[in-house]
Amino acid sequence: MRPARALIDLAALRHNYRLARERHGGRALAVVKANAYGHGAVQCACALEGEADGFAVAFLEEALTLRAAGIRKPMLLLEGVFEASELADAVREDLWIVVHHEAQLRMLETTTLAAPLHVWLKINTGMNRAGFLPEAASAAWQRLQASGNVADITLMTHFARADEPQVITTTEQIARFDAATAALPGAHSLANSGAILGWPQARRDWARPGILLYGADPLPQEGNGLQPVMTLESAVMAVREIAAGEALGYGGRFVADTPTRVGLVAMGYADGYPRVVPDGTPVSVDGHPSRIIGRVSMDMLTVDLSRLPTAAIGSRVELWGREVPVNRIAAAAGTIAYELLCNVKRVRFSYQG
Ligand SMILES: Cc1ncc(COP(=O)(O)O)c(C=O)c1O
Repeated sequence: MRPARALIDLAALRHNYRLARERHGGRALAVVKANAYGHGAVQCACALEGEADGFAVAFLEEALTLRAAGIRKPMLLLEGVFEASELADAVREDLWIVVHHEAQLRMLETTTLAAPLHVWLKINTGMNRAGFLPEAASAAWQRLQASGNVADITLMTHFARADEPQVITTTEQIARFDAATAALPGAHSLANSGAILGWPQARRDWARPGILLYGADPLPQEGNGLQPVMTLESAVMAVREIAAGEALGYGGRFVADTPTRVGLVAMGYADGYPRVVPDGTPVSVDGHPSRIIGRVSMDMLTVDLSRLPTAAIGSRVELWGREVPVNRIAAAAGTIAYELLCNVKRVRFSYQG
């Protein structure tokens, strides 16, 4: 059997959730959208169901999958609904919805529902992606109240740059949120992972931790005690020597300057390992640091075993996990851990803890 697999440590997931909840205070919705950032939404939600205050997904179908798997905790649709018919589904499945746009507000005003919904009113405090402008927040709140379809309203915003401790944007967003909501009743929810860890002023009634649950610290200084949840690993499937001057792999990008022992590893970009990483990108072989040499192929990649004479066919190769932080690979690939984790596919997923 091909040895490529993603090992998911559910005990680490619970550890990270507890850390987020403790750091933030109040309650926390575990963000498990996008298949729990690639980790398996059903398995992750089941692992957290006993202690999470609730869950957040992006849209209705993601929520239905979790409800069908027996997840009963509160569940928020972060994108809200796309059409009015989904409001009845939300009532039936006991889902909470974000309302971030005039069109969604109108759906609530023009529908008759069997029961009122819990609504999270999203205010655009500077990200300019979704949400009502601060000056429109009060009117939106009044219209929700008047619709007859709303049980209660939580006030929320989302930060554009909470993972950048030095920039003023988050402080400004908090100030705009506070001004816009000063006269409105309701619980508040501001903090994503970066804010939970780095912005105490953003800690309110509800946190919405995502990436930190999966153990990737979004702050540059890291060191927050998160535990990686996914280990992406495989094994050496062949070993060869190449002479000085010989090129390796597609495009001949790596050329050996000394005789080089090359390990061929069953992992490639079709599995979600990024093709763009340069020579020198860290991997771990049997627990020892090594590096990628040569371009990553669709199903295989090559690593330098020159300094690891005992490494052989079957040696374990960690692409990321406890030995190789996923943030390092994301930096090498010019992206963020979120994207790498979400992209893992085709490999076997094994769950423990
Ligand atoms: C509205 C909202 N809240 C919370 C999160 C979680 O963010 P993070 O993964 O940075 O913690 C997201 C994710 O994008 C989001 O869209």
